[in-house]
Amino acid sequence: MKYIFGSFTLIAFIIACSPKTSTEVVTEMEEVSMTAEMSSGKSLYESRCIKCHGYKEIKNYSRAQWEKILPAMMEKAQLAEEEKKQVHAYVFGTINE
Ligand code: HEC
Repeated sequence: MKYIFGSFTLIAFIIACSPKTSTEVVTEMEEVSMTAEMSSGKSLYESRCIKCHGYKEIKNYSRAQWEKILPAMMEKAQLAEEEKKQVHAYVFGTINE
């Protein structure tokens, strides 16, 4: 545990001391944090979830709200099981950012 904490401190120190690198690190992390599952979910969200209403901003709803809204909406959008997983990963991944 101490070792893990130490590594974080060290990383934070390195980032804090090199402004240029920190921007690069952040960009890389954003790319990595969107998994293949999430980006498929994003495409589905942007094509299938705008048919009945406009684009709903994910961050306008809390995690608790999404837990109720999303299953109902995925039924409405008639998503396949695999597509549901992808949209779920995208929505909850976006909330967690
Ligand atoms: C068959 C039509 C239909 C489809 C497809 C659909 N929705 Fe909806 N959705 C509705 C209706 C009707 C409402 C209620 C009216 C409104 O808020 O515009 C709604 C409301 C919402 C709300 C607001 C809920 C609230 O309590 O304020 C969100 C968020 C939402 N939809 C997300 C989605 C997502 C994500 C998808 C894709 C998985 C989706 N919708 C696909 C019909 C649909």
